[in-house]
Amino acid sequence: MAATGAAFVTLGFLTSLTVPVTVSGFRDLVPAEEGHPLCFKDHHKHGYTYDRCCNRDLGPHGLVTCWDAYMDFGFCCRPMAPLPKRAHPTCWTGLLENRHEMCCMGGSQHLAGPRGQSECWEEKERAGEPSKSTLGMCCDFFSAWRLANGSSTSSMIDVWARFPGSSSRAACLIEGYATTCSFPGIAFRVPDWHDNQLAMGKGASLPKRARPPLLWQLPAVSLRATRPRLELLTLGVGTYKSSVAQLVADAGALDVFDAVHAFSDFSFLSEDERQRWERHLRAWREGARIAGYGWWKPFLCRKLLSSASLASGRGLLVFSDAGSRLEPESAASWQSLAFAMRSYDVMAVVDIEHMERHWTKRRTLRQFEHGLRGTGFKDEGQFVSRLFVLRNTPATQRLLAAWEQLVEDITLVNEDLDPRGEAPEFRAHRHEQSVWSLLLKSAILGRPVQRRPGAPQMNVTARILTITEGYEAHQLTDFARRHD
Ligand SMILES: *[C@@H]1O[C@H](CO)[C@@H](O)[C@H](O)[C@H]1NC(C)=O
Ligand SMILES: *[C@@H]1O[C@H](CO)[C@@H](O)[C@H](O)[C@H]1NC(C)=O
Repeated sequence: MAATGAAFVTLGFLTSLTVPVTVSGFRDLVPAEEGHPLCFKDHHKHGYTYDRCCNRDLGPHGLVTCWDAYMDFGFCCRPMAPLPKRAHPTCWTGLLENRHEMCCMGGSQHLAGPRGQSECWEEKERAGEPSKSTLGMCCDFFSAWRLANGSSTSSMIDVWARFPGSSSRAACLIEGYATTCSFPGIAFRVPDWHDNQLAMGKGASLPKRARPPLLWQLPAVSLRATRPRLELLTLGVGTYKSSVAQLVADAGALDVFDAVHAFSDFSFLSEDERQRWERHLRAWREGARIAGYGWWKPFLCRKLLSSASLASGRGLLVFSDAGSRLEPESAASWQSLAFAMRSYDVMAVVDIEHMERHWTKRRTLRQFEHGLRGTGFKDEGQFVSRLFVLRNTPATQRLLAAWEQLVEDITLVNEDLDPRGEAPEFRAHRHEQSVWSLLLKSAILGRPVQRRPGAPQMNVTARILTITEGYEAHQLTDFARRHD
């Protein structure tokens, strides 16, 4: 995007008009009231005010006579968030008219997710419509703060995020959907041809290439700044022992991790701990998946996070499933992520193709239902537990403690189904991953978590940096082993 003194945004609001957006002028554009400034600035005189247009008492879309093809309730009345570039001259014409939200928020069929669907533009191209646009040109990829010292862009999102006093809490593209929420301070690289090929599952046939970082902290951190300590954790037992050795070798060659903790058995357990996890261990000996439904992920993470080397609050613990590969090309992305994590507690990966209600059994959904009621938690993608990054903060420790306590209840992670039957759309339970996903959604949306019946509710609020499975996570790691 050109860093010119002024950018012009063309808008249609019953009548088209052109609003010059300059950095010096953006203060004037941001009214004290709520709603998107582009919708209400300069339109007061026509009677288009936030209070009138966004009045939910009039219906789910407020005052419908306020809206046209460019501006609608979703754009004007929600909190500021990463949004489609509504003003783009060719993105939202023809087939994609009024499909901006669906194309940018990621997914049809209620598969909410943070960064859009490349299918939209493929469809446009197939239909022979003018489409030099790429996904990146049409949507804002959480570009919450791209401006640096007086440059400007046509994106009001950037301007808003930089506005003094703008809130640093999560802003959600769709209210109640955790995976559409973002925090300012991070810029995402626009996906290129390679990324789009990866997104389409064509990674295996692509030549290796240097990968520019996917995201970075803003303002950009000097390369001479001290990088936070990065430690890697993995565990694989039985047939996965060789995968552990492979990952350790990969990590050595990558040279970004300050320590690697690799386990290929449970000999690290004390006698007390062995007793505590006996049911899970027995299940593992009897063939349960993820070495006993993955109970050891929160357990080991909590132990390592409290170790001396990571206790500073700046240390980062990376968990990766054995079976994934760390490629040398990912070094720059890992370096950049380590800096970006200074503003976050957790980096998590969401699989927007895997809807929560398909991959979490009723018992586990029910555990979170009260806290997450009124949100889209079942209809959005599931966070995966095969890769995540933890910063040693009180919020992370609370989240891990909750995960560990929940996983300890074997009925939440095992494959026993509800005696009254599961929902028709349910396919399989994802063990500790299902719990992790629901916990993260609670953390992002600030919803309380019930760990045990009768126990006080727990506040697990945390700042979660969300990246998507597919090409985004691929900048960091290759999930060679598929789940299903
Ligand atoms: C940006 O502005 C800050 C102070 O406002 C200054 O310290 C910094 O050097 C500037 N950076 C650039 C790249 O001009
Ligand atoms: C939960 O904790 C966060 C900070 O960690 C705080 O901002 C928020 O108000 C708390 N929520 C409740 C309901 O106590």
